Amino acid sequence: MSRSRTLALSFVFVGLATACNGKGDANAEAAAEAEKVWQERCVTCHGPDGGGNGPGAAALAVKPRSFKDPTWQATTDNERIKKVIVEGGASVGLNEAMAPNPDLKDKPAVQDELVKKVRKLAQ
Ligand code: HEC
Repeated sequence: MSRSRTLALSFVFVGLATACNGKGDANAEAAAEAEKVWQERCVTCHGPDGGGNGPGAAALAVKPRSFKDPTWQATTDNERIKKVIVEGGASVGLNEAMAPNPDLKDKPAVQDELVKKVRKLAQ
């Protein structure tokens, strides 16, 4: 292999490594932001463990369900969870006490991480 070809190849590898690294950081960032959103906005009603028993839930006419319900986990899909989070409960026929989070509309990675969070709470 010629020297310049070896050199070119090593640039490709460095480039690939950097790209992968960048993605890893972006994922970690999205996960951290999702965790922050969960703690700051969702726990009040949904409870820290997703049981639907946060302090804010007491005052609600319609209580949030427990995310630990295996039947709900099995019958709801990720797109619907994201829609509820971004557009609010009313967008899928649920109670409007579940408010929309329009600032997350352009943050699909954060939405994905919130879905993961909701899914993980089931375990
Ligand atoms: C003001 C209280 C409140 C806050 C804050 C809140 N929710 Fe909700 N959420 C609700 C209620 C009440 C429902 C159930 C509405 C119904 O069943 O009609 C709900 C429903 C949901 C559902 C759909 C569950 C189902 O039955 O299909 C998801 C997913 C959800 N919330 C996630 C979140 C996330 C993530 C956050 C934070 C970004 C959040 N919620 C913040 C009250 C809240």
